[in-house]
Amino acid sequence: NSQTPVIAIDGPTASGKGTVAQKVAQRLGFHYLDSGALYRLTALSALRRNTALDDEHALAKVASRLNCHFDSGHIFLSEEDVSEAIRAENVGNVASKIAALMPVRQALYGLQLGFHRAPGLVADGRDMGSVIFPHAVLKVFLTASVAARAQRRYKQLIDKGISANMQDLTNDLSERDARDTHRSSAPLKAVEGAYLLDTSALTAEQAVEQILGWYALVKTV
Ligand code: CDP
Ligand code: CDP
Repeated sequence: NSQTPVIAIDGPTASGKGTVAQKVAQRLGFHYLDSGALYRLTALSALRRNTALDDEHALAKVASRLNCHFDSGHIFLSEEDVSEAIRAENVGNVASKIAALMPVRQALYGLQLGFHRAPGLVADGRDMGSVIFPHAVLKVFLTASVAARAQRRYKQLIDKGISANMQDLTNDLSERDARDTHRSSAPLKAVEGAYLLDTSALTAEQAVEQILGWYALVKTV
């Protein structure tokens, strides 16, 4: 298993991690881990069970008992397709709050390691290169300006027929950045050795090509 390559892609919200990581995985025929989805699943499950959102041990229990599976881009919680439900705004906000709790992070650790299978894995999140897969053969830190990221979220919402406001989106992004960056457990940061990629002026395809180029270089070393 230690021979099975991992590509870790970390970065702030709307930097393009999900889109880019999935495409890289497709191109290489690798498995894909959307670690943010695990925090969202925990949040959704806690909300549905009315778990107190300040009770870290109860939340960790919810996380450790997640009955979820991933199938062709769809995400299931106890056989129910919750792919849409976990993307709701309030679920994302709760996810970001409970992700600051160490017991919750520890409860999701083993589940994430389980995605590391041949022929390889592309994992996206906040701490893939720093905590979960420190031996990743390639670590990428995706960034983009707040303006570019707010614009992307805006477009995603409008495309879905949901009305959106740039100012609110910008505030929300900055708030989430602050929370992810300043928490004490597994804060969002580029680890040593990570390749920085600012995607503000790149298409997702261009970002994918850059990452595949880096991978081709490091895998032969
Ligand atoms: O869509 P967005 O980038 O906002 O979030 P996500 O990747 O779906 O993850 C939801 C939340 O989980 C984020 O706001 C992070 O706080 C947290 N998260 C984390 O702490 N560690 C990870 N490896 C992935 C997500
Ligand atoms: O996972 P993360 O929150 O980092 O971002 P995402 O959910 O993949 O959303 C990024 C959005 O920006 C998607 O609609 C992409 O099509 C778009 N985009 C991108 O991912 N990368 C670029 N370089 C440019 C746009």
